[in-house]
Amino acid sequence: MFSYTEIFSDKERFIPELLYGREDALRKLVDLVSKQDLTLFFIKGPRRSGKSSLLLTLLKILSNGEYKQKFNVKDNWIPIMVKLDAVTSPLSLSNLLLRRGLTNYTLKRLNVKKIPTYAKVFSEKIEEQLTVGRALGGGISLGNIGASVSKGKNFAFPYSIDLSLVSDILYESAEGSKIIIMFDELQYIYENWKDNKSIFLQFLKKISDEYYDRIKVVMTGSVIRPAELLLSKDYTEELHGRHIEEYNIGEISFDDAEKMLIDGFTSANVNYNDYILSSALNLTFRIPGWLAYFGKYYVETGKLLEAINKSYEEMGSLVREELGKLKRIKKREYYDTAVNMLAKKGILTPLELSKQLNISAHEAEIILNNLNYIDFINEKGELKDYTIASLRNDFEEMICPICNSGRALVLKGLHYFVRFSCKHVVKL
Ligand SMILES: Nc1ncnc2c1ncn2[C@@H]1O[C@H](COP(=O)(O)OP(=O)(O)OP(=O)(O)O)[C@@H](O)[C@H]1O
Ligand SMILES: [Mg+2]
Repeated sequence: MFSYTEIFSDKERFIPELLYGREDALRKLVDLVSKQDLTLFFIKGPRRSGKSSLLLTLLKILSNGEYKQKFNVKDNWIPIMVKLDAVTSPLSLSNLLLRRGLTNYTLKRLNVKKIPTYAKVFSEKIEEQLTVGRALGGGISLGNIGASVSKGKNFAFPYSIDLSLVSDILYESAEGSKIIIMFDELQYIYENWKDNKSIFLQFLKKISDEYYDRIKVVMTGSVIRPAELLLSKDYTEELHGRHIEEYNIGEISFDDAEKMLIDGFTSANVNYNDYILSSALNLTFRIPGWLAYFGKYYVETGKLLEAINKSYEEMGSLVREELGKLKRIKKREYYDTAVNMLAKKGILTPLELSKQLNISAHEAEIILNNLNYIDFINEKGELKDYTIASLRNDFEEMICPICNSGRALVLKGLHYFVRFSCKHVVKL
């Protein structure tokens, strides 16, 4: 039904049937966002596990007639999707939110063909509110470019409207329907907004305290740790006392991962066998984005090892990119060593690292803290994100310890669940 280019696409996806192994998660999330008492949601998971795709698909389900029925969605939802990587100030976020509300940008992005009437009404009400506000000369002052809220397509921005007022406008305009705001790449707020962070948090707080019956906010990021720090609920922080519903995703099951590969290979008409499938499931750790890379390259080359190596290059460059973003660190090569050790052993302690690099325990600790900050390890120094294993390329063939006949490629020395061509699953 779907083509291998769709099944192995490396872009974010929003079609429920193309989201392998996430049907339960989707049903659960549909259920949770429909609850009155939950407002803020935070999706966690390793790189390329499909966090963005999960949320996009949720938005699609909530706003597309066919899926609404299938997932038993009762309310009329208006989706507003915002990627925060290029949003540098509260004012630009205000403008973006209003603009998205006015233009049905998100519905088009999600390929919803027929814009529902309630969404059009919503846009019109935002316009009305802006016009009224302007006429009254209150709260809404025009930015220096000047804004014309005419019926045409040329909305001139920016408005100088603060985020708090934006939440008022969205809330008022959504009468009779609900809004779901998706914030992706949340780590950028933590890293770039500096003193303005609290304005973003106040926006969330206001929605959580006052507008919970009509507005829901679902959030994620590529790198989870800074996003977690942003959403801290310490008593000195804005969000103290507010509930954030967290949802974890990770690798998909062996069966779902296998189904994804088989669907793609069948559509591409390429040969495969149980050895190839099992090895791919083991070496990609069943992380959806990694599987997608593997699938794409296997279709291209028809060779297991070549496809694996290319998928490792893709994942490895993500890891290096993340390392490269670390600021104010002294010796980059120390980090390379540390990460390579981590990839090999699955755990790293300050002592081992200080020995290896001949540096002080304190220095080693700083390095480990930074690796924790970008989600590579947990507080105990254990490998948290298997995508780091993509820096390796030492695969070994093992024989199934259960039947002594199945075989598969695995990563040497890692203690993890693997599957053999005989379909036995074993924890190494
Ligand atoms: N459930 C799934 N089944 C199959 N493919 C998926 C699934 N979820 C995501 N993908 C694919 O995996 C890749 C990564 O997805 P996505 O960008 O949503 O992940 P992410 O966790 O947001 O990644 P990042 O850490 O880069 O932000 C994309 O190619 C996407 O199409
Ligand atoms: Mg993402």
